[in-house]
Amino acid sequence: MSTVVLIGAQWGDEGKGKVTDFLAEKADLVVRYQGGNNAGHTVVVDDREFKLHLIPSGILYPEKICIIGSGVVIDPEVLIKELESLQRRGINTGNLKISQRAHVIFPYHRLLDQVEEGRKGENKIGTTCRGIGPAYMDKSARVGIRMVDLVDREVFAGLLERNMEGKNHLLTKVYDSEALDLNSVLGAYNSYAETLKKYLADVSIIINDATKQGKNVLFEGAQGTLLDLDHGTYPYVTSSHPTAGAACLGAGIGPTRIDRVIGVAKAYTTRVGEGPFPTELSDDVGTFIQNRGGEFGTTTGRPRRCGWFDGVVGRYAVRINGLDYLAITKLDVLSGLEKVKICTSYRYRGELMEEFPASLRVLKECVPVYEELPGWQEDITGARSLEDLPPAARNYLERIEEISGAPIALVGVGSRRSQTILTASIYD
Ligand code: GDP
Ligand code: IMO
Ligand code: MG
Repeated sequence: MSTVVLIGAQWGDEGKGKVTDFLAEKADLVVRYQGGNNAGHTVVVDDREFKLHLIPSGILYPEKICIIGSGVVIDPEVLIKELESLQRRGINTGNLKISQRAHVIFPYHRLLDQVEEGRKGENKIGTTCRGIGPAYMDKSARVGIRMVDLVDREVFAGLLERNMEGKNHLLTKVYDSEALDLNSVLGAYNSYAETLKKYLADVSIIINDATKQGKNVLFEGAQGTLLDLDHGTYPYVTSSHPTAGAACLGAGIGPTRIDRVIGVAKAYTTRVGEGPFPTELSDDVGTFIQNRGGEFGTTTGRPRRCGWFDGVVGRYAVRINGLDYLAITKLDVLSGLEKVKICTSYRYRGELMEEFPASLRVLKECVPVYEELPGWQEDITGARSLEDLPPAARNYLERIEEISGAPIALVGVGSRRSQTILTASIYD
């Protein structure tokens, strides 16, 4: 019985939702611990597709406890829509628990996200404009409003009035934007509070009790290692910590409670938004991967930039997250290519570079050094064990393991729950 943290090992959209759903079968609790509805996790069960933004991907099993931890920022309007949409489709949402300490996203956060991106012009981050950055800014500035405050009418009215006075000043005087109406925000959020209050709990107690009772707890990361505020391609990052260490803070458990960490990576690389991406392909192969992989954002619909698997990023993710295992998704997308490539290191001003650099100026100048491997032509979407894969695909996976420095525990060969090859035992 174990606690397993699952994180994105690249720039997000690695297939964390699918892998979480697959591993949730043997979990008792599934916990989201950071990010917000900037995340879009697609899960396909039989012929039904679910797009989850805030609710953990364990929700599709009726008996699992699903938790939104204190490290998540919650847009209540989005959460309620997500709950209603799941309920309409017959999914049991009665086992959802929301941390009292999670911070709330307000319309002024969304607006500030948009106007700040507009102001930055061509230096924009390419955010999802969901108010994520501004909400985490308020949390750090100690003016945020938490779920526990939202459901306390008196406390909430005072906090909102104080905040909206300042935000309206900023919106009108600095950004030349419209002011928001206090009473309409207050009315809407009081009504969200009524709907959501029954889900609130001190979730740290629930999670710690579960670990003491020897239950399996799965932590579902959002975003990816290279979007981490400390360790990502700053400033082209998100405002939370998608790396494994954040699971402790965002759930309210100690580091001694974590047994295993798994990094999810695509068999290639994608990125949405701005920022350097050394193995990006702007040729036919990039277009092939984008079309075959359906690489268009779950949250914003933006096309995802595509490129080869980057082993420098792989090694970095193994180190920063202490990965025990990799889960490699979307291997099926590469079927049909004559050759496949893995970046083993970068060349920077003539020198070989093995480690991911901190400086974006350096990263922009890095040229990938590739190892070229034979591709495979077979359709592998029916493979259910490594032996079912063509030798070239197996060889490709072995090189990913060797270059990244972590063994592979799971391989994805399609978007459905069943299209998964499990090669190691995860919970014991
Ligand atoms: P997440 O944000 O990390 O959960 O990833 P997204 O859901 O945003 O993007 C991954 C996409 O790839 C989704 O549409 C999944 O249904 C799909 N997917 C996941 N694993 C596989 C796989 O092994 N093969 C294929 N073809 N699609 C997959
Ligand atoms: P999942 O969980 C991919 C990116 C945005 C932008 C940057 C900052 O589905 O993997 P933000 O709105 O967070 O301030 O935007 O981070 N980004 C993601 N990219 N997958 C995600 O989530 C992302 N969440 C944020 O595109 O570049
Ligand atoms: Mg996604």
